[in-house]
Formats: sequence, C-alpha cells, structure tokens
Amino acid sequence: MPETGTEEEGLVIPRNLKVEENRGNMGNEGAGIIMQVENLSKTYSQGKISVHALRCACITVRKGELLAIMGPSGSGKSTLLALIGTLEKATEGRIILDGTDLTSVPEKLLPRVRREKIGFIFQHYNLIPTLSALENVELSMRFSRMPKKEREERAKALLEKLGLGDRLSHKPSELSGGEQQRVSIARALANKPAVILADEPTGEVDSKTRDSIVRTFKELSEKGQTILVVTHDPEVAKECSRVLRITDGVIKDY
Ligand SMILES: Nc1ncnc2c1ncn2[C@@H]1O[C@H](COP(=O)(O)OP(=O)(O)OP(=O)(O)O)[C@@H](O)[C@H]1O
Ligand SMILES: [Mg+2]
Repeated sequence: MPETGTEEEGLVIPRNLKVEENRGNMGNEGAGIIMQVENLSKTYSQGKISVHALRCACITVRKGELLAIMGPSGSGKSTLLALIGTLEKATEGRIILDGTDLTSVPEKLLPRVRREKIGFIFQHYNLIPTLSALENVELSMRFSRMPKKEREERAKALLEKLGLGDRLSHKPSELSGGEQQRVSIARALANKPAVILADEPTGEVDSKTRDSIVRTFKELSEKGQTILVVTHDPEVAKECSRVLRITDGVIKDY
C-alpha cells in the first residue's frame, strides 16, 4: 500500500501534507518524536468578545509518552485536545502529528485523518446506545479496508485484552461506567492511532475503576501508544510520564 495518496471516497491525501522532512530540523532529538505543536493559538470570537483559550502553545511529545494535561476549569485543556483532534481550527500555529501537518489538511480530508491517526476517549464515553460493545468497537473500523470478519476479530481481541471478553454483546446501558470506558478505550485503539486523546476519562468513575483505567493507559504507553490525558485528578497525573499545566491558555511544561 502506498504511504500517501491512498484513495477513499474519492479523496486523496496530497503528498505535500507529509512533513517528514521537518524532523530533520530536530537533529538527533527528532528520533521518537510523534507530535510537535508549534506556536498554537486559539481565539474564540463571539461578537465583540474574544476569548484567548490557548496562547502560543509549544509542545513536543515522544512516542509512548503518557502525558497529563492539568489546569483550572476554563484554562484551555479541552481546547488543546480539540485542536489536536482536528475538531476545532487553530487561529495560529501548527500541529505535526506522525509526519502530517494537521493544520493544513483540507476540510474534506479531516474525517479520514482523524479516523486513522487519532483515538478519542471522552468523560461520558460517547458509545452508541443501540449497539453492543463489540459493534461499537467494530463500527469504528468500518472505513478501513479490513474485511468485516477481521474487524470483528480485532474488536473481540481488544475487548478481551481490556477484560471485557464476557461482555461482548452487552449494550452500553447494560455495562457499568468503568466497563463502558474500557469499551471506549478499545474503540480508540481500534485503528492503531498515532495518539489517543482522553478528556477527563476518569471523571465519572470511582477510585478503583480510575486506577484500573490508569493502569491500562500505562500498559499501553509502555507498548508505545502515545496518550494525552486531561485530568483534574492528581492521582491520575502522578502516574503519567509528564505533566503539562495550563493557566489562562498558557502552557507550563513540568
Ligand atoms: N466554542 C466556544 N466558543 C467560545 N468560547 C469557548 C468555546 N469553547 C471554549 N470556550 C472558552 O474557552 C476557554 C477554555 O475552554 P476549555 O473548554 O478549553 O476549558 P477547560 O480547561 O477544558 O475547562 P474544564 O476543566 O472546565 O473542562 C473558556 O473560557 C471557555 O469559556
Ligand atoms: Mg474541558
């Protein structure tokens, strides 16, 4: 399969969106870097009011990092994830993820780039209520070239790995909060994303379930999965390999 220019729905990702050569600027430091956020800003404008939700953020993330993002309510944490997740457009700056400049991907190609490179985990799980655990995970691979049987096998294997082998046909309403979050982790992993973005993934669960979710994140990160996790919980942050703190849209790296 060619590295770029694969067709889907009549769309082709142009070669010039690949920016592998930029890694050359990073010298030896470039090895192992999966994401580079450069001077990223987001200003929301509503009439005469401008909210500077993110100001000139620069972040370098290495493959396999488990990175916590902390800060007070309204400081810009979800905005940062929404920009990296290509759900919002940056006002200024660039995001290079796995060799692709996300900020110059044309609108119509964004769903595909999002699907292939990014896994999302939300506080409220966002599973499809009418589908089983297995179907929720399988559905996220429906645009891949994998045959249905293989997609089902992969979904089953992921759910089994997350301890849900005996819950495959349960609907979200038949699962506990922690189990639903594990289904959403399996879904996020399904397309082997370059990065997983988790916005307060343990916000709704008890401390035991939180600890098991964090353990899962650590195991994934040890195997090379890069994960960014927004959290208010110091117990989650202390298990991460690094903590970014945001105040009023400004990032401090610890
Ligand atoms: N779509 C929007 N339009 C206008 N302003 C917005 C929008 N989304 C967020 N904001 C503003 O941007 C700032 C940052 O919001 P953001 O959601 O990133 O905060 P947060 O750090 O995730 O907070 P929380 O911990 O409460 O989830 C806030 O002042 C918020 O009011
Ligand atoms: Mg938020």
